[in-house]
Amino acid sequence: MKTLVLGLLPVTGKDFINRTTEIDDILRALKDPGIRVGYAISAPVGTGKTSLLQELARRLALEQRIVPIYFSLQSLSDVTLEHFVKRFTIAVLQASESRLKLRHDAKDLMESPLTILDKLLRDAKISDELRQAIILLVTFEREKTIDKHGLVEAAVDLPEMIAKETDSRCVLLLDEFTLLADLKSTNERFEFDIFSLIRSMHEKHRHCVLVITSSNQKALDTITLSPDAPFHHQFVLKHLKNLSREAATQLYEKNLDKRIDAAALKAIFDFTQGSPFYLQFLGRMLKSAATPNITEDIAKNAIEEFLQQEGEMIFREKVKQLSAKERLILSCMAQHDVKTPSEIGKIMNYSQTNVRRFLAILEEKGVLVNTSRGVFVFEDTIFKRWLAAKGVDA
Ligand SMILES: Nc1ncnc2c1ncn2[C@@H]1O[C@H](COP(=O)(O)OP(=O)(O)OP(=O)(O)O)[C@@H](O)[C@H]1O
Ligand SMILES: [Mg+2]
Repeated sequence: MKTLVLGLLPVTGKDFINRTTEIDDILRALKDPGIRVGYAISAPVGTGKTSLLQELARRLALEQRIVPIYFSLQSLSDVTLEHFVKRFTIAVLQASESRLKLRHDAKDLMESPLTILDKLLRDAKISDELRQAIILLVTFEREKTIDKHGLVEAAVDLPEMIAKETDSRCVLLLDEFTLLADLKSTNERFEFDIFSLIRSMHEKHRHCVLVITSSNQKALDTITLSPDAPFHHQFVLKHLKNLSREAATQLYEKNLDKRIDAAALKAIFDFTQGSPFYLQFLGRMLKSAATPNITEDIAKNAIEEFLQQEGEMIFREKVKQLSAKERLILSCMAQHDVKTPSEIGKIMNYSQTNVRRFLAILEEKGVLVNTSRGVFVFEDTIFKRWLAAKGVDA
């Protein structure tokens, strides 16, 4: 099968460029049974968090006694706690199939009548305790009332129980972990803080280590930084950077199938700042250019076309998530290149307090980053450029 190069999907294996130091450092720690501190990795959208986690999972799976479990919370935003537990259980069981000697897919287990389920699990020769836990997790939807707290406890405990019983180490790779805050409950909101619950379960675990990511720096800080945060001192905090100039060049040399000028490369690097997503996106556009030689002019045209047309597709969704006031403030910041409440307030004729309130919301949404006291910058400078060109109609 031909692999998708210069695509927009996460990459692993030979398509995964660079990041050797990050990968090697993290892998060394994850493989060391004496180390229980995990990693919390933050980076803006499109920097390569998912690719990094999936590459880690791929490399860890080559190890004898390590079971990597990749699970993304991305597709779960706005869904119920119950749905999360169900999907998580399936992911854990699927990743552990061979170690548990389960001969049936986790999804089939979910559909099996209780008697058959019990028999299938007895065939797998696991402890009574683990069998009971799995039965609870795959059948809870059949019950009328559910103890949500107990359910999450059972789910979080599952990988630890499996690892312990199969004498292995489990590395749980939870992509966009902070989105757990958005989980809803089917009937009413659940009463407990899910992060505190996971923390208190996880600290008892001896066979599981966590690697989490988040695109939202503020949300990640909330659960890791302050002394009373649930995951205070629980992770090595890493900020994933964009690709270096050399790595970006390597990406194009490997995948573009065209000759590209140093000046063209420079224009593209200056524009993308090494963001893997934007590099891949522009690379795809250049790949379909009619000429075998990419010059500076062609690269600059591609950038213009990207801002005029493709940006529409990429940023439209982002803009939809914003209120009219938030859009106005962002457009003002982009067009006038201003960063503080007082500058913005003056141009828009709003009170600073009012502006500050909106900046805080935009920071929470991950659109802006508060770099120093009262200074706010765009998390994504290309979004800023696009907005500046579009103006308030965006
Ligand atoms: N190491 C890498 N080498 C080459 N391309 C990469 C690398 N990392 C990421 N990419 C590319 O960048 C884009 C974004 O990658 P990925 O989905 O892993 O990022 P992300 O940070 O998880 O993004 P999001 O926040 O949207 O989930 C994809 O097109 C992917 O192919
Ligand atoms: Mg991702």
